[in-house]
Amino acid sequence: MSSAQRLIPLVSDTESQPTAAMRIAIANAEVGDEQRGEDPTVNRLQARVAELLGKEAALWFAGGTMCNFVAIKVHTQPADAVIADWMAHIIRAESAGVAFSSAVHVEPIVSERGIFNASDLRAALGRLRTTPSPYAPRPKLVCVEQTHNFGGGAVWSLGELRAVSNLAGAEGLAVHMDGARLLNAVVASGTSAAEFAATADSVWLDFTKGLGAPIGAVLAGSRDFIAEARRYKHVFAGAMRQAGIAAAGCLHALDRHVERLADDHANAGRLADRLGQIEGIRVRTPAPETNMVFFDPSGTGWSNGAFLAELAVRGVRMGEVSGEIRAVTHLDVSRADVDTAVAAIAAILKTSPVAGPIAKSSGYEPDLHWRQTCPPIPCPPTPAH
Ligand SMILES: Cc1ncc(COP(=O)(O)O)c(C=O)c1O
Repeated sequence: MSSAQRLIPLVSDTESQPTAAMRIAIANAEVGDEQRGEDPTVNRLQARVAELLGKEAALWFAGGTMCNFVAIKVHTQPADAVIADWMAHIIRAESAGVAFSSAVHVEPIVSERGIFNASDLRAALGRLRTTPSPYAPRPKLVCVEQTHNFGGGAVWSLGELRAVSNLAGAEGLAVHMDGARLLNAVVASGTSAAEFAATADSVWLDFTKGLGAPIGAVLAGSRDFIAEARRYKHVFAGAMRQAGIAAAGCLHALDRHVERLADDHANAGRLADRLGQIEGIRVRTPAPETNMVFFDPSGTGWSNGAFLAELAVRGVRMGEVSGEIRAVTHLDVSRADVDTAVAAIAAILKTSPVAGPIAKSSGYEPDLHWRQTCPPIPCPPTPAH
């Protein structure tokens, strides 16, 4: 795409493109048969992630959704119960895949930012155990998401994770951490990846979000857990051949793209701050902890669809999640892009609001994939400026 056509890509950090240097690392990758455990680049990446997360072993996957499916499969038996936050990616955005692949019940905990506490977990366990066994579902696993995507890129503190993990352990439940953006949490909090990961029995990292690689996620846990995960990865047809081509991009990202996540967080903060100064826009994440900004423009008279379509006409792509607009910063979004996006929004709001369906003339279908049927997440009042 020429720069004249470039749309500022704020729909998701998954839109990030491999850099020129990453493409060179990919082109030069040493490769072998991953399915046989013989790809040297994949093996190097697995060892590196196991060390980073303080786990005995790690296993390469094409993406994070399969890490969740395989981990949940290893931790549970059909008809077991998994406890997760109500906005968890496994509930909202994985096509009920855990019901299909693991035949489990998922018990949701309602929280505000995707972060629950030990008493929320105790209450969920109480709900599951109101009837005596064998009628009651059998809770086996707690899933946490670090950072929490639909919770606004929220970061679990180490204390919050430890409290939930300790109770889970005392109740005989395992803990699985969806760490799609764990390194954003590390950079934002200063807590190490290993400290966060120590609160979970299984944990994975995604390389295709803010880290900017095109393919790859790595799941980590005990040696026995990973041996079983390898079996289910094959069952789910996830084993590959010369996957080092992709793993090389992930190693490159680990070396070069971690500390810079702080820039994405600063850019998200700048965007939230500027949007909060615009009358009629209610920002749910006025002080984003990481790289996501959620806001509601309905106070301006614009419908989400028309707003997104008009924004695209002016060179900016954002998406809609649960009735709100979501903007996600990443390595292809600069501080200047944030300012351009804010200027585009200000210009739109000077025109007459279009409250109806998406303007057909724009030729742009805002990310309908992200239109979710769940109720909008309640916004706290926007602080006065
Ligand atoms: C929190 C979370 N978990 C899991 C996933 C799925 O990861 P992947 O797209 O690599 O399958 C995503 C993707 O956006 C995510 O945000």
